Amino acid sequence: MEIQVVVGDPARVKADATLLGHFEGEDRPGEEAAGVDEALGGAIGELIGQGEIKGKLNELTLLHSLGRLPASRVVVVGLGRRSEHTQDRIRGAVGEACRLLRQKGCKSIITMAIGGGIAGVTDEEAAQAVTEGALLGLYSFRRHFTTEAEYGEVGEIKILAPGEDRLEEMERGSTRGRMLAEAAIMARDMSNEPANHMTPAIMAETAERMAGEYGLGFKVLDEKQMEEMGMGALLGVARGSREPARFIVLEYRGGDSEEYDIALVGKGITFDSGGISIKPSEKMGEMKGDMSGGAAVIAVMGAVARLKTAINVIAAVPATENLPDGNAIKPGDVLTAMGGKTIEIISTDAEGRLALADALVYVNRAGARRIVDVATLTGACHIALGDVCSGAFGNNQELIDMVIAAGSDAGELIWPMPMYSQYREQNKSDVADIKNAGGRYGGAITAAQFLAEFVGETPWLHIDIAGTFLSDKEKGYLTRGATGVPVRTLANLVLRLSG
Ligand code: BES
Ligand code: MN
Ligand code: ZN
Repeated sequence: MEIQVVVGDPARVKADATLLGHFEGEDRPGEEAAGVDEALGGAIGELIGQGEIKGKLNELTLLHSLGRLPASRVVVVGLGRRSEHTQDRIRGAVGEACRLLRQKGCKSIITMAIGGGIAGVTDEEAAQAVTEGALLGLYSFRRHFTTEAEYGEVGEIKILAPGEDRLEEMERGSTRGRMLAEAAIMARDMSNEPANHMTPAIMAETAERMAGEYGLGFKVLDEKQMEEMGMGALLGVARGSREPARFIVLEYRGGDSEEYDIALVGKGITFDSGGISIKPSEKMGEMKGDMSGGAAVIAVMGAVARLKTAINVIAAVPATENLPDGNAIKPGDVLTAMGGKTIEIISTDAEGRLALADALVYVNRAGARRIVDVATLTGACHIALGDVCSGAFGNNQELIDMVIAAGSDAGELIWPMPMYSQYREQNKSDVADIKNAGGRYGGAITAAQFLAEFVGETPWLHIDIAGTFLSDKEKGYLTRGATGVPVRTLANLVLRLSG
């Protein structure tokens, strides 16, 4: 889909539909909608007066212009109360409105930097949000259908700037929005892909292709090379699978230091059956998305390169399936992670932390000044926080604050979780340095405490996306299936770190 920012008047540009916003509790159409309302003989104003258009968040009203405007339809989307306005509300409202218009057969849409200039949201930020909302809200994963979609695709969106003086900032916002949304879409595509179409090898090829496109450094370790590096934890998980594991590394150098300013690590379990500690079969298919953390860190590297950030970033994704087999690891087994720490296996279903342990040691040795890892790590995090926010666990308050702020800007909410040392007791083993499962209570925290053992003194933060990687409904700019969380948060974080 093409999205352009051009100077124009919504009452004069031809399209299948014009998209306008309206704030709750206001008795007249906003200034930017005045021309369209006038052409419609005051119909919008009348609907507001009659209370049909209330402006409640995401409320949709469709009008037909019947020749009175160059645009055939007008949709008014509610933006909620001015006092509660945020950039993320624009994303959601635009996502909802664009889906309605697609359903009505619209191929071309014109809109503005709707919600810009209100409650501290600039026109640049509004243009970014409109772009993200449209791209993410209209997303669909149809790769495996051989039949046509029920509705055609929207081909073109024009975001109209009121004058030349506003064009540049709005273009800047829209371009940034496109890069962020496209990265999130790449992550959604990878996560939605069935496990037989997104094996560790295919995941590595996907990363390699992207690296070629954007000029990133790329490296992949096969099992023999992992063996040489001592990655016994990741290799332990991989033993149950016929699909060979891959350790994927991407590198972006935009800064001038030797070190990496930040390392991004993502869990890349392309299918998690639980292994010998097998999961119940209900909803097991969702575990094709157990590589969503890995997909997010791969995809965000594309955005980091496209945004030309002045910073050095390394990304590492330990990728493998977790399956039961005669050769699989068993509860009671002891594995040795990279760096020499020994791990007693309590549950082969606590595999994510095993794969991540080796990856954390790897990036630490590579010279990372900070580490952020992302993983669909624990059902316990989903229970604790629901699907509203991801959990943040870390050893450095500054990094925690930064990630939460970056997530808030992206509309990908994150909440800090406790890391009191008392929780470490639960991970003590009778036979090895640590055990891989610390019991039901506080399961998201003990999983994070396990990871903490492999980062040393490096400032580190872990984001558990088990509750947020999937959406069970279409809502705002989310569609059913993978959400692409926290790609836009990580991109914001890298932008913040680069100054
Ligand atoms: N991938 C799962 C966690 C998960 C579950 C993510 C549901 C998203 C939705 C992880 O590997 C896992 O199985 N965790 C176990 C840990 C337990 C065995 C200590 C869990 O959460 O039950
Ligand atoms: Mn598991
Ligand atoms: Zn898992």
